[in-house]
Amino acid sequence: MAWRKVARLDALRDGGVVGVEVDGTPVALFRIGGEVHATHGICTHALAFLKDGHVEDGTIECPLHQGVFDIRTGKALCAPLTRDLATYAAKVEGGEVFIDLD
Ligand code: FES
Repeated sequence: MAWRKVARLDALRDGGVVGVEVDGTPVALFRIGGEVHATHGICTHALAFLKDGHVEDGTIECPLHQGVFDIRTGKALCAPLTRDLATYAAKVEGGEVFIDLD
């Protein structure tokens, strides 16, 4: 695994989403309760940044056409989405968030 430090934990609001770029890849970071999750940062339907979306009940709603993904699994939950979202391993150590893009 190749863990990369991507953010401070206190930069993530519980129930919120933050966009970061890791080695040129846009990534969306989520904090849900005590968990941190990471997904690809761009919707699988068209060019929309999920950092601008709406988080609710463990899902992210795309800001462009309101497609909804499960944050934990990346599963596309409704139309117009037809492809799931890539997810990445995430962990917190010493107040810092690490993800593994591999
Ligand atoms: Fe995300 Fe269309 S760009 S649902």
